[in-house]
Amino acid sequence: MMKPPVQKHLSTATVMQNPPVSGNCFRISLACGNLFQHARPGQFVTLHLPGNLTPLLRRPFSLHRVRFREEKAVGIDILYKVVGGFTEKLSRLSAGDKVDILGPLGNGFTILQNLSTAVLVGGGIGIAPLVFLAETLARTGIRPADSGICLGGRTGEDILCQDDFSAAGFPVRIATDDGSAGQQGLVTRVMADVIHIRRPDIIYACGPMPMLRAVADIARNHSIRCELSIETIMACGLGACLGCAVNKDDASGKYQHVCIDGPVFDAGKLKF
Ligand SMILES: Cc1cc2nc3c(=O)[nH]c(=O)nc-3n(C[C@H](O)[C@H](O)[C@H](O)COP(=O)(O)OP(=O)(O)OC[C@H]3O[C@@H](n4cnc5c(N)ncnc54)[C@H](O)[C@@H]3O)c2cc1C
Ligand code: FES
Repeated sequence: MMKPPVQKHLSTATVMQNPPVSGNCFRISLACGNLFQHARPGQFVTLHLPGNLTPLLRRPFSLHRVRFREEKAVGIDILYKVVGGFTEKLSRLSAGDKVDILGPLGNGFTILQNLSTAVLVGGGIGIAPLVFLAETLARTGIRPADSGICLGGRTGEDILCQDDFSAAGFPVRIATDDGSAGQQGLVTRVMADVIHIRRPDIIYACGPMPMLRAVADIARNHSIRCELSIETIMACGLGACLGCAVNKDDASGKYQHVCIDGPVFDAGKLKF
């Protein structure tokens, strides 16, 4: 399906709430009117804290959810993990604080019209964009009960949003490195079991690169279409600095940029 262009906006949003959800992960809700009315799952925003000189560069975060009231978008949620200076400052914000927001950016996942089943695979904080995706798929005719969500992390603390996926009707399977939640081992092992049973029309994944590489291999071996959302270090987020270049596109011979050509790529077109 063709993805219509979505206009991006620079705006100042107001923090509604910013509670911790697990370990060092938080979910911030930002009121920003209907700017994200037509945003797609897999797209992202870049954030800056007004009045802060450090960090200088805006930081990218996936759209975790667009909030609607009476079918009108009123804001967005971002699920984030505290890993450094910016995310630490973000975690200290509370209701009424302001955040500069630019988006929606990037391409987003492809939602095919005739899709009936999908398997979504999330590793660590890569789970963040999959809630928006799962809820959108559930609204657009997919059969959640015949689909599946596979969540992986180091420990049970890294397994986020299980209740959101269940509320959207998807069966959830979990794998952790230490076995503190779900099956012990890699999420890709759980995923291989799930796709063996479900034979989904498509696999969507977001998480660390080694996980994405393994997901792509399994999808290719089963001839299942697969889309991967990739995280790279980004400077401008707008295609200007070339800081997020990944592999060359075979058709054009040009480098692809995660910020404008992605962050979602067809697994078959990525060179790991
Ligand atoms: C398209 C996209 C979507 C993203 N979505 C989310 C999200 O939904 N939730 C979330 O928590 N994070 C997300 N990230 C990662 C997020 O941008 C970084 O965690 C954040 O920029 C870190 O900023 P900081 O100043 O706190 O840490 P820094 O001090 O900048 O970095 C701390 C550590 O994290 C590493 N790091 C920084 N940025 C990235 C990155 N992009 N990928 C991998 N490692 C990185 C650094 O190398 C360093 O080791 C996303 C990144 C991209 C590119
Ligand atoms: S982040 Fe600058 S080109 Fe992608």
